[in-house]
Amino acid sequence: MGSFVADRFAPVRRELVELNLDVRGVIPDWLDGRYLRIGPNPVADVAPEEYNWFTGDGMVHGIRLCDGDALWYRNRWVDSEVTSRLLDRTSPDERGRSALHGPSANTNVIGFSGRTLALVEGGTACAELSDDLETVDVCDFGGTVRGGYTGHPVLDPETGELHAVSYHFGRGNTVQYTVIGPDGRLRCKMAIPVQGSPMMHAFSLTRDYVVLYDLPVTFDPRSATHVGVPRPLRPLAQLALSSIVGRVRIPPMILNRVPRIPAGRFPYRWNPDYSARVGLLPRSTSNPAAVTWTDLGRPCYVFHPMNAHNDDRELVVDLVVHERVFDADPLGPTEGQPRLERWRIDLVTGSLRRDRLADEHMEFPRIDERRATSTFRYGWAVGGTDDVSGEHQLLRTDAAAGVAARRDFGNHSAVGEFSFVPSSPAAPEGDGIVMGLVTDLAESVTELRILDAQSLEDVAAVRLPQRVPAGFHGNWIQQPH
Ligand SMILES: [Fe+2]
Repeated sequence: MGSFVADRFAPVRRELVELNLDVRGVIPDWLDGRYLRIGPNPVADVAPEEYNWFTGDGMVHGIRLCDGDALWYRNRWVDSEVTSRLLDRTSPDERGRSALHGPSANTNVIGFSGRTLALVEGGTACAELSDDLETVDVCDFGGTVRGGYTGHPVLDPETGELHAVSYHFGRGNTVQYTVIGPDGRLRCKMAIPVQGSPMMHAFSLTRDYVVLYDLPVTFDPRSATHVGVPRPLRPLAQLALSSIVGRVRIPPMILNRVPRIPAGRFPYRWNPDYSARVGLLPRSTSNPAAVTWTDLGRPCYVFHPMNAHNDDRELVVDLVVHERVFDADPLGPTEGQPRLERWRIDLVTGSLRRDRLADEHMEFPRIDERRATSTFRYGWAVGGTDDVSGEHQLLRTDAAAGVAARRDFGNHSAVGEFSFVPSSPAAPEGDGIVMGLVTDLAESVTELRILDAQSLEDVAAVRLPQRVPAGFHGNWIQQPH
């Protein structure tokens, strides 16, 4: 089993602000905004043999770039009731704001509708952050999205709408599809029937379809009651949870008050009895039963699609596929070898074809997001080893040619997700830079690395005042003008 509190994952203990940052190279002067990266960083000590990477309290690291300079670095824990108590500071609840129970948001950080949002899945509350990364409120889109949101919404570049699929074990064999308008307000909400209580980390969006991944990692009452419930009471708690999950749909008003799973063991496990299938919901329908499901044949799990698109004949999705997760190792995604695949679904017959696009380990796939929901050419992903904790390369993929460029930072390095930023709003696809955090584990130093998006050669690097633990997702948030 992996340990997710040691080495590259070891949490940091200080919240810093640093205004004097060393820069190598030349930061493009058209970059005006913040690069934000979020990940788990437990406030309290945790038991390494029980701690699941996905359950740690969220911490956001940010670097502000403007006029070719790096103006600041800062890092802040995302507040929740738990983190506020542990950090001995006023909780969002006490400030008269909405409920932020459980561990804090740790999965993704995005800009949307003029706000900075720290996101997480599974029913834990998301948070709105200030420009300086302080937690200012719960993010539930004005109370319209209750019971949690997702770490992976998809912004439709054509409409400016934010689409999402959210799951929570209290939703009673459904997942919730929502569309938020550019004004930050709910436009559409639908409860879509699934086979049970799957962990649906992400979904895909095309011009005409919502693509649902109903895969065999499902809620496990045994894991859910292992941490935080006294041993003599666990059988009773497991029985109670088993009788609720999939049978009772908790009313939305109450979902926000259902106790969150405490930090520690993740309550979702590989389920060999659960069919792996992919569903297509037409975006034009208001009928949640209109999903067309296709069986995948052999089981797998998907955390991260790269992109998806469709024409009148077929739907194509490129995505990173894990053979298996959370089976032998309940602490993190260390089993199986994640590989980039292309799934082609015939929109007439419903048949599905799976092709592997590259032989090497790959994760954290990203694109030029102006191409989201459409045909596309370029992708960027981390890889380099067969071990989730050993990624030291950045790969550029070509939709027609697989891996097309590679940048190796060395075995002593830990490479996080890289985000693409176009050189101008009208620049051709893939014309710009990619940026992400790279840690030199030997020197215990993290830099924001800015690379040419095509050649992956250095453009600039900003040295941060502390090591940043390996985490989840990051994004460039352009300064509004
Ligand atoms: Fe993710």
